[in-house]
Amino acid sequence: MSATMEQGAARRLRLADLHKTYRSRGREPFAAVRGIDLDIEPGEMVALLGPSGCGKTTTLRMIAGLESVTSGSVRIGEREVGDLPPGKRDIGVGFESYALYPPLSVRENLAYGLRARRSMPDACIRERVEAVAERLEVTDLLDLRPAALSSGQKQRVALARALVRNPPVLLLDEPLSHLDAGQRQRVRRELKVLQREFGYTTIVVTHDQLEALSLADRMAVMDGGTIQQFGTPDEVFDRPANRFVADFVGEPAINLVPGEAADGAVDVAGAGRLPAAVSASGPVEVGLRPQDCRLAAEDTPGEGPAATVEVLEDLMEFGLATVALDGNGTRMVVQTEGGASWAAGDRCRVQAPAERVHVFAKDTGERLS
Ligand SMILES: Nc1ncnc2c1ncn2[C@@H]1O[C@H](COP(=O)(O)OP(=O)(O)OP(=O)(O)O)[C@@H](O)[C@H]1O
Ligand SMILES: [Mg+2]
Repeated sequence: MSATMEQGAARRLRLADLHKTYRSRGREPFAAVRGIDLDIEPGEMVALLGPSGCGKTTTLRMIAGLESVTSGSVRIGEREVGDLPPGKRDIGVGFESYALYPPLSVRENLAYGLRARRSMPDACIRERVEAVAERLEVTDLLDLRPAALSSGQKQRVALARALVRNPPVLLLDEPLSHLDAGQRQRVRRELKVLQREFGYTTIVVTHDQLEALSLADRMAVMDGGTIQQFGTPDEVFDRPANRFVADFVGEPAINLVPGEAADGAVDVAGAGRLPAAVSASGPVEVGLRPQDCRLAAEDTPGEGPAATVEVLEDLMEFGLATVALDGNGTRMVVQTEGGASWAAGDRCRVQAPAERVHVFAKDTGERLS
């Protein structure tokens, strides 16, 4: 395929203090995006993650030019594109709302953007369409009309349409959400390979953390129209910037329990101490990922809050134990080895290495450790 798909020159994408306030008659103005800064390297793939309504689609639509910018700047390469119409921005988009043309076949839908450019011979267009179709598993659909496609098929066609133009910047909003599990994995891999091969600077919105982890060089976690953290998946997972990010990223979810910090340790819910890299003292919130904790026998030397096992779920390769901490019975989930012999009623101690004990300010939720 390389012969027919020249490298799209990757561009840097920069958002600076980007805002969007929706104003509609008879309703209070609503600030959906509240000052976003993002600097994305040429050829980098960034996943945008966040709860429903946090402004992900609005952000992508402003970059694509499908939504006006209230204030702030969108730059592609050295060019400010905020005032350019969508067609002049050199951006490939895969949005659910960005429908395929119903009267055209899938093949014509894919070729449409290339034809409009008038710079490519028909034979090349045909070849490129077929090459991308093959990789996104839509070859069998090329002669159908959009109305005849299932939602998963439409989604793959929409993705193919975005990729076929080999755009320097690619924006994808939940591009794989309608695919079944197997296909999702295959198309995800193909998307990653194509992205690497051609170096599109890419933002992909996803609700699926595994998808974000497997696709993205860096991820931006959003809440309430702002970016809470922007970093590599490891950075975000290992050093969440605040309570929100800690809680949003990671499965099973992190345990957040009340604690008291003093002298490089935290007392966890009054049930026992854990070492922690924290210099503050006073009431805090302690974040412990199930994967980072272990259960030890109650009389094991060393620190760790004391607890009683309530349930053990055996998930073959590993188990998940729900324990109730001594004191007021705060519940925590701890990952155990597969085949572990813990049972309801067992007394235990929860242990975790200091660098895995996250400490957040009780009031602001900001990271303290
Ligand atoms: N045209 C509009 N007019 C008024 N409010 C809007 C408009 N479009 C979106 N909003 C509001 O802006 C906020 C952000 O919407 P957006 O679609 O960007 O969220 P999202 O992060 O993409 O959510 P989801 O994960 O559900 O797709 C929401 O509260 C939404 O109701
Ligand atoms: Mg959305």
